[in-house]
Amino acid sequence: MSAHMTIPQQLSEQLTAALKSVAGVELPDGFVPAVTPSQDLRFGDYQSNAAMVLAKQVKTNPRALATQVVEAMSGCEMATLEIAGPGFINFRIKPEFFAAKAEAMLSDDRLGVAVTDNPKSLVIDFSAPNVAKPMHVGHIRSTIIGDTLARLARFLGHKVITDNHIGDWGTQFGMILWGWKNILKQEDLAKDPIEALLDVYKKVNSMCKEDENLLPVCKVELVKLQSGDEENLGIWKQCIEVTKTGLEKIYSQLNISFDYWLGESAYNDALAPLVEDLLAKGIARESDGAVCVFSDGFREPKNDPFLVQKNGEWVPVPAIIRKADGGFLYATTDLATLDYRTQNFNADSIWYVVGAPQEKHFKQIFDIERMRGVTGDFRHVAFGSILGKDRRPFKTRSGDTVSLQDVIDEAVTRAAKVVDEKSPDMPQEEKERVARIVGVGAIKFAELSQNRMSDYIFDWDKMLSLSGDTAPYLQNSYVRVRSIFRKIDGEFVAPQRLTINEDAEIHLARMLVRYAEVVPSTLDDCRPNLLAAYLYDLARAFHSFYEACPVLKSEGAVKETRLALCELTARVLKQGMGLFGIEMPERM
Ligand code: ARG
Repeated sequence: MSAHMTIPQQLSEQLTAALKSVAGVELPDGFVPAVTPSQDLRFGDYQSNAAMVLAKQVKTNPRALATQVVEAMSGCEMATLEIAGPGFINFRIKPEFFAAKAEAMLSDDRLGVAVTDNPKSLVIDFSAPNVAKPMHVGHIRSTIIGDTLARLARFLGHKVITDNHIGDWGTQFGMILWGWKNILKQEDLAKDPIEALLDVYKKVNSMCKEDENLLPVCKVELVKLQSGDEENLGIWKQCIEVTKTGLEKIYSQLNISFDYWLGESAYNDALAPLVEDLLAKGIARESDGAVCVFSDGFREPKNDPFLVQKNGEWVPVPAIIRKADGGFLYATTDLATLDYRTQNFNADSIWYVVGAPQEKHFKQIFDIERMRGVTGDFRHVAFGSILGKDRRPFKTRSGDTVSLQDVIDEAVTRAAKVVDEKSPDMPQEEKERVARIVGVGAIKFAELSQNRMSDYIFDWDKMLSLSGDTAPYLQNSYVRVRSIFRKIDGEFVAPQRLTINEDAEIHLARMLVRYAEVVPSTLDDCRPNLLAAYLYDLARAFHSFYEACPVLKSEGAVKETRLALCELTARVLKQGMGLFGIEMPERM
């Protein structure tokens, strides 16, 4: 068991035993002492406030309790203990213990990361662009974050289903259908279907603004589609097909795929009965001809998604699920989608990776489900915007939204320059492959290294820089480690025992061992930036180690240990970046 426990888990277990053994202390049910990494290594590797928390509960002096606990743990083989401040317990892990953990990692494909003992059936809803509408930067963020969460969750042993809930049934089809019949050039469609549809949409949109007679004509096309007109259904299907093909092309360049593409239209038949059911159960009611869900008063007003404050008063903002004209809405579809996922995929968890502006929408959806008695780990994994260098929303020079394909192309072109400068002699074919890995990696890492809730500035030079927390820096670090192994005679054979003495060796081992803690906590909080920051710190620890501790010039057990630390560094970097869907080149 302990081989699969992280250091904080092991320390927590030992603390529990020590607390129990201290006379007069009764542990409350389910009390698990918290052990967290120390902010400052001068005070040790980890710390716990358990003695303080417990002393308060049993009304004793926290420092005295901490002293007793430290005495009870005097035989601890993992760490030396110290009391700090009002009763914190600091743990300094012994180098031999780091060595032992690192030894175990050498023969473990998972590099110490345990499989969860609480596997979820998890649907991740991400990317979800809208057919014939521009894929905006919000979709880029969703695509990259969602894919990473899926990779992390799978790696940790959850059953993951990825679903691309594309917007394939919106009112935009009125204009698209009219445009398809009247202005679309088939050769444009053949060349670049996504662009062509987008162009049609934009043109008809502006034509509608100039000619007020056009909008009603488009509306007629939409109604025909909705009532099952064969011709319009045929065109609509073609729009979806060409869009899917175009999107698949982009996703494959990003090495991203989906288990399902159940777009909004997949739920059309479920909407009417759903509304009837909500009416019958008294959860929804009619209001001005529309069908709405109002607050059931379950939450405090400030946490109630069906209320907003206006002039000091709480006023209702109901969720509309059927319009007065009989049409259904985004919310109706999302309720039907959630039903489908819990019933057909047996999902107990559904995570929606969607921008922060949709916060209220998801709160309402989850609350309506609660009213219906459907509960689970339903999360809106929100994120902020991407800004240009001028701190305004990221746009092209002409003011258009930036297309993901253009972003990929530019990243690869710029990465090719970086590779060209670093390795002018590399064969052309390899150069192109590496440029792709570096360029795509740079976009992904720039996204994933940000706190997802903050807005971030899209900066080409920064994201492709070979220094700082960037994909190219980490890829280059990996390449440097791998190059060490090309200089040794024969195959590297991992030693049985590691002997770690130097500070830089200890620190590198400390960082390597921490990988097992970082991966699960990255998923728990849906915060890829935790893993990104960790990988950057690991690479820096490696570079300091490499400067302080000669590897190839050392000998015997020292050399074996150092090579083993290098080997683990390469493996953690590669696996960790792999969880981001970022590849590592062998040379660059
Ligand atoms: N198509 C939506 C948009 O572009 C995102 C859909 C997110 N998923 C969901 N189940 N609502 O804003």
